[in-house]
Amino acid sequence: MKKYKGFIVFTALIFGTSIISGCSREFSEKKKNEIKIGVTLYRQDDTFISSISSYLEDISKEKEQQENIKIQLDFVDAKGSTTNQGNQIDKFIKQDYDIICVNLVDRTAAATIIDKAKNANIPLVFFNREPVEEDLNRWNKVYYVGAQARQSARMQAEIIIEEWNKNKSKLDKNKDNKIQYVMLEGEPGHQDASIRTEYCIKDIDNYGIELEKLADDSANWQSDQAVNKMNQWIQEYGDEIEVVISNNDVMALGALHSINSTDVFTEKPIVVGIDGVKEALEAVNKGDLTGTVISDAKLQAKAIFDISYSLAKGLDVNNVQGINGKYVKTQHTKVTKENVDIYLADSNK
Ligand code: GAL
Ligand code: CA
Repeated sequence: MKKYKGFIVFTALIFGTSIISGCSREFSEKKKNEIKIGVTLYRQDDTFISSISSYLEDISKEKEQQENIKIQLDFVDAKGSTTNQGNQIDKFIKQDYDIICVNLVDRTAAATIIDKAKNANIPLVFFNREPVEEDLNRWNKVYYVGAQARQSARMQAEIIIEEWNKNKSKLDKNKDNKIQYVMLEGEPGHQDASIRTEYCIKDIDNYGIELEKLADDSANWQSDQAVNKMNQWIQEYGDEIEVVISNNDVMALGALHSINSTDVFTEKPIVVGIDGVKEALEAVNKGDLTGTVISDAKLQAKAIFDISYSLAKGLDVNNVQGINGKYVKTQHTKVTKENVDIYLADSNK
């Protein structure tokens, strides 16, 4: 009997161990071969954001094939609502996603999101809408991917300065040796809107060209709002407008639409954007848009993906291209008619 009992204990032990080891092997393999990444977007219909998203999808599919791994990449649209975004993040946490990528609706709401993710030990990759540094420092598994806003402003200023130097007689319609301009701004509170607005003007001013602001207002990054603003300004200032400075391309394209729908201009104002979206590059090629500044959506998507992948696989995040601590901030490229053909073929989707 004693012998028999011993046998049972022995078999149970062997059997039990094999179940345990079987389970843990299955668990770790599942972990290794399947990654779940949740992405919440402030607005899916934003042209530049949808460009980043579609690059992310491509990069993820490519990686799946290369590494023979399953990557579940899920996008949700917060539709401009902080409440929606909070619920989406709660859901990702509940469903045990490995990484959550956040394109914040409200940049000041980052702290709450970080604290939730920290509790669940799910790393975060913020992108395009930058939390303040103090918030990023709440936890070590939090990153930010975006572009160098100051550089985009400088390049936009350069495009205007070059145009002034080349075509002053056409540009300075009232011959007062000043630029009469209107400014279409992005969303209030967005780092790219405030930095681009401030430094584009500062750089032109520092170069020594006098500026006179006729009007400026936010069109929230959106084309239809820019059309409305521009129509108002055309009514108010008409042919006085010499330059339209826009914080992004789709608003610049909206302004172009208004300009092309009227005959009040003896000479059309020049229009300059930022982002490098496809239609903007086409407009530069046609000579309608004087210039734009490419923000590298593909490289930003690559950084978002590489950080997420490294974190999920337990690899060293410091090996991600361009990373500097918790930040990846990509470089811009200045585009005018002179070099647009190089970028047209490979433009942001
Ligand atoms: C900016 C971009 C805008 C808009 C915005 C959304 O970087 O220039 O076009 O996409 O991000 O947050
Ligand atoms: Ca003038």
